[in-house]
Amino acid sequence: MSESGRFITLEGGEGAGKSTHARYIRDWLAARGREAVATREPGGTPLAEAIRAVILRDWPSGMPPMSELLLMFAARQSHVDEAIRPALRRGADVVCDRFVDASYAYQGGGRGVPEARIAALEDMVLGGLKPDLTLVFDVDPRVGLARARRRGEENRFEGEALAFQERVREAYLARARRAPGRYAVLDAGRGLEQVQDELRQVLEARL
Ligand code: TMP
Repeated sequence: MSESGRFITLEGGEGAGKSTHARYIRDWLAARGREAVATREPGGTPLAEAIRAVILRDWPSGMPPMSELLLMFAARQSHVDEAIRPALRRGADVVCDRFVDASYAYQGGGRGVPEARIAALEDMVLGGLKPDLTLVFDVDPRVGLARARRRGEENRFEGEALAFQERVREAYLARARRAPGRYAVLDAGRGLEQVQDELRQVLEARL
């Protein structure tokens, strides 16, 4: 569990509205007098942001799934040691746009890396650190991809086939089913206001 602040992560496929919802959560916490640190993965420290650029770049011969996974965890180690743990220790809440569940969903579900390999890295890098609450913004990948494209953002994950996006979605939902106490799944296919209404209820109930 987290040390003393609360650790909240946002997950979901492409175009699920996570960045908007992350801002909403940070404002919700600030209105309650909490210091809230907003961050993201891959990224969140200068080193991890540099690794992010390597991960998201289009490499001429692609990237082996294990290289992708190891780079995610290389970035995560810096992020956890230099940003997340220090913030939680001083009592701040951390709102993180994607975290370790994304590795299970994208590298595991999407790319087929065996779950045991991801779990071994999780153990090595996080040593038992788990989010207190993980919000899964669930959206049909066709709807999510269309939104992401309208925003004009397309990284190499967004360029993956629909079948890949379906596997990512299913992996998130399967993880949420396995530990319902730590996850809340929100239907992000609806309008922003409706999703935010439900999000507020979840925050009031769980935090
Ligand atoms: P973003 O677009 O949400 O900022 O994230 C960048 C991409 O990185 C996103 O398409 C999902 C991917 N990703 C993984 O594949 N594994 C991970 O562990 C993380 C944190 C992100």
